[in-house]
Amino acid sequence: MKTIDELLAEGVAGKRVFVRADLNVPLAGTTITDDGRIRAVQPTVARLAEAGARVIVASHLGRPKGAPDPAFSLAPAATRLGELLGADVAFATDTVGESAEAVVAALSDGQVAVLENLRFNPGETSKDDAERGAFADQLAELADLYVGDGFGAVHRKHASVYDLPARLPHAAGYLIATEVGVLRKLTDDVKRPYAVVLGGAKVSDKLAVIDHLLEKADRILVGGGMVFTFLKAQGYETGSSLLQEDQIPAVQEYLRRADERGVEFVLPVDVRVGATFPDLATKAPAHPTTVAADAIPAGQMGLDIGPETGRLYASKLADAETVFWNGPMGVFEHPDYAEGTKAVAQALVDSPGFSVVGGGDSAAAVRILGFDEKAFGHISTGGGASLEYLEGKTLPGLAALED
Ligand code: 3PG
Repeated sequence: MKTIDELLAEGVAGKRVFVRADLNVPLAGTTITDDGRIRAVQPTVARLAEAGARVIVASHLGRPKGAPDPAFSLAPAATRLGELLGADVAFATDTVGESAEAVVAALSDGQVAVLENLRFNPGETSKDDAERGAFADQLAELADLYVGDGFGAVHRKHASVYDLPARLPHAAGYLIATEVGVLRKLTDDVKRPYAVVLGGAKVSDKLAVIDHLLEKADRILVGGGMVFTFLKAQGYETGSSLLQEDQIPAVQEYLRRADERGVEFVLPVDVRVGATFPDLATKAPAHPTTVAADAIPAGQMGLDIGPETGRLYASKLADAETVFWNGPMGVFEHPDYAEGTKAVAQALVDSPGFSVVGGGDSAAAVRILGFDEKAFGHISTGGGASLEYLEGKTLPGLAALED
């Protein structure tokens, strides 16, 4: 994989460089609630601009349906990138139309432009190779060189991630190089004990990684909405908690395999519950109660791990040499259900081992909950991407940068 430093050494001054970033940041209206992904790509953009490139930054945001939708505009991200760079950043209101052409044509050496959301064009995410290729051809017209630095999207076989690098001389940016370097430490020659904390809503999203980790990890700790499928699989009642009944047989099989392989599978011993899902807009007090994990009352919904579980999980992480954490332990966006996620984040901070926070949600959670990013070994910008890397899959956006 060619590095951006090799590209810089060949000279980028006056060249139009297309940087595929992941500026898919959480928004409340037009306010960015966590700018971590923009800060993460800033060094690549800044270095290219310093070297005199005409930098074209492109990304997706959210999942619009292949047509313009103002709710998913990248305009706020472009503004934030300009603030971080301390420079004016031009914004094109389309991707391959008149605005993009004009904005790119007007760039001087060292200037930066951001294109509108790539997913406003159906070609970006199309499953049809020809349709994706046609969009990639149009994008290729805009640039002379390609830098892949949208780590969070490298697991997507999308036009700007997979097809475009085949059409332009390409290199990997600083963020992708860092992310891959860190994830290698979790796959090759990992230091033990290796503990993995998995949370998030759906167990079905995590099955492949659990399958893989059963061969690699020493301990797997589970929280978040997906934990209730595990509790149900053990025969406990889960009230009105999130449940994926169809996944129960798979979960039972994983628990059996963990036992057979001597992998410690740790589930909550207590849970914070409420009668309804909390109001995240007003953050009105939710008045949760704490119950034993095997005694969730009917009509009550589990929304966070309980305090005893927080302590148990901290003890399981205290001597780990390597920790990977993906997915919040509860509805951390509401203060009444943030304690479990805080407890796990604090345990990673306190652990003397190498700790990696993987995933949009857990990465945003540690920042929103006020933790110092530097206290963690690494905070990945990729949720699905880091999970698929750990699953051992070939990631299209990395494969495309290889040759
Ligand atoms: C992410 O948030 O994980 C990345 O930006 C990829 O987004 P996607 O899941 O919508 O492809």
